[in-house]
Amino acid sequence: MSDRRNRLALLGTGRMGRLVEQLAPEHGFEIALRLDGSSNAGGSGITAEAFRSIDVAVDFSVAGAVLANAERLAPLGVPVVVGTTGWQEDLPRVRALVESQAAHGAGLLYGANFSIGVQVFYRLAAAASHLLAHEASYEAWLWEIHHSKKKDAPSGTLHEIRRTMEAAGWARRLDVASNRAGAIPGTHQIGFDSEADTIVLEHRARDRSGFARGALRAARWMIGRRGVHAFSDVWEEIVRS
Ligand SMILES: NC(=O)c1ccc[n+]([C@@H]2O[C@H](COP(=O)([O-])OP(=O)(O)OC[C@H]3O[C@@H](n4cnc5c(N)ncnc54)[C@H](OP(=O)(O)O)[C@@H]3O)[C@@H](O)[C@H]2O)c1
Repeated sequence: MSDRRNRLALLGTGRMGRLVEQLAPEHGFEIALRLDGSSNAGGSGITAEAFRSIDVAVDFSVAGAVLANAERLAPLGVPVVVGTTGWQEDLPRVRALVESQAAHGAGLLYGANFSIGVQVFYRLAAAASHLLAHEASYEAWLWEIHHSKKKDAPSGTLHEIRRTMEAAGWARRLDVASNRAGAIPGTHQIGFDSEADTIVLEHRARDRSGFARGALRAARWMIGRRGVHAFSDVWEEIVRS
């Protein structure tokens, strides 16, 4: 039996890409290709030759690159895990093009936050929103803070928390705020306040390793899989696999 490590292509070699590279061997991966903004302008680094022996790609790049990357990868049949945030408006196009190439093996998994703790947090937010949806005396807020180099605001995670709360029945106003300062890897908070009391739920990432490990577990799960998957929908299956 072959003990060949799975071969991973990194799209983006910044803070997250470097961490994925560092943790890849623990997850049975060898980094076989690294592409950044210059080597992959407009998706130009994604060629059949460069990706011939690649099992899966991980995209931690910039929002403006995700569509071109997916367009190039889909016909090559290389599945990709997209951790990049801020490209939600391109999701319908990305979904359509990946699904149209599924016969060629195209697959894409996306997630604004690959931390398992945040997946649990989404469910806590949904439960609290459902319980308070008809308690008109409670108003709610959402808040997040990240390091000052983060490009998008509010964060993709905050958008996802909001979607989760609304899907759970919260139909009243949500007051939303974002801060960008220092080196904070990511803190998200939801709160409910009434005349009588306050409920606060908060998730604090301590470093970026939870995101990188979640992306690597998702990458293993995606090898040989087709179609479009949201990390939030499949993470329980991923952590059991
Ligand atoms: N899903 C999650 O759990 C999670 C967690 C943390 C962060 N994120 C998101 O992940 C993304 C990356 O974060 P980061 O902190 O690593 O950012 P970063 O340090 O700014 O790195 C971005 C990288 O993308 C590269 N890049 C730019 N255009 C590219 C292209 N066309 N093809 C390939 N690479 C390209 C940049 O290369 P150059 O330097 O050459 O331009 C750089 O290496 C952000 O959207 C962030 O919000 C997601």
